Amino acid sequence: MEAAIRARGLTKRFGARSAVEDVTFDVPVGEVFGFLGPNGAGKTTTVRVLSTLVRPTAGTAEVAGIPVSEESGAEIRNQISVMTETPGLYLRLTVFDNLEYFAGLYGIPPRDARERILAALDAVGMAGRLGDRAGALSKGLRQRVALARALLPDPRVLFLDEPTSGLDPVATREVRELIDGLRDRGVTVFLTTHRLEEAERLCDRIAILNTTLRIVGTPADLRRTLFSPALEVSTVAPITDPGELFASVRGVDGWDSTGSASYRVSVHQPMAVAPDLARAIVASGVGLVHLSEATHSLEDVYLQLVRDDVEAAR
Ligand SMILES: Nc1ncnc2c1ncn2[C@@H]1O[C@H](COP(=O)(O)OP(=O)(O)OP(=O)(O)O)[C@@H](O)[C@H]1O
Ligand SMILES: [Mg+2]
Repeated sequence: MEAAIRARGLTKRFGARSAVEDVTFDVPVGEVFGFLGPNGAGKTTTVRVLSTLVRPTAGTAEVAGIPVSEESGAEIRNQISVMTETPGLYLRLTVFDNLEYFAGLYGIPPRDARERILAALDAVGMAGRLGDRAGALSKGLRQRVALARALLPDPRVLFLDEPTSGLDPVATREVRELIDGLRDRGVTVFLTTHRLEEAERLCDRIAILNTTLRIVGTPADLRRTLFSPALEVSTVAPITDPGELFASVRGVDGWDSTGSASYRVSVHQPMAVAPDLARAIVASGVGLVHLSEATHSLEDVYLQLVRDDVEAAR
């Protein structure tokens, strides 16, 4: 597996406080990798270390195959692009002039610059605003220009720090489609976000960070790791003796009541047990309203992992 990003024991401390502690993960080339965690978890710090803006206190990292070090900063920055939490535009310059300035910094030949700038602005739905002063744009429009700026150098690895924060639903959808398009072109995307449904929809794999790395995997892996399979049942009226009824069905490991006439039934193989369970409920004389495999959202996974940490810190 060719890794676009490799982190080994990455640690960043500010004085006595650990922002990031002993973080190890790989991001294969072409993956959209989600980086989630509560405020102050160390997400932006990790992005800053990987994009060579700050030096780690300990540990090593490789980005685009290049070891992160003081000497390799310029070489890495040639392969990557970063959209930070703050758009970092020159507010007195027009949208076009901002991007022309950055195109120069990125070493894009002047004869190609105009076409590349127009393509980048088009990709974020801002082609019609190139003559506007950046300072006169709304927050979300500035954010979109910042994203266009990050796309300009045609990076191999793109770091996006909360790219849809502050965007309206239509712009959010456009940015998500843009990220999908980058994946199709083989660009590796490192995405930090607080929007769990966004991570779930966009990311091949997800890491949850809270100073230390709590878990890494596909959304399905994460759900499987934290939650055992179950069936959700609801009935017209309460089952008279649910313990006896559920125990009579092969493959049922246990049950909980989740409401006056609803139950969560633990099973190893939901699809194998569901028909027998349905028959047993109907045979007991109580009407069956609903029977389905229990599903967990990424939000359930996140809250399960992070809530205890947050409560412990209070
Ligand atoms: N330059 C700095 N000096 C001192 N402390 C810092 C510095 N940068 C970050 N920190 C601290 O490191 C921790 C991690 O911050 P970081 O910005 O990486 O969090 P984050 O996960 O991006 O949070 P958010 O979701 O709020 O953006 C925080 O406690 C923060 O206050
Ligand atoms: Mg941050």
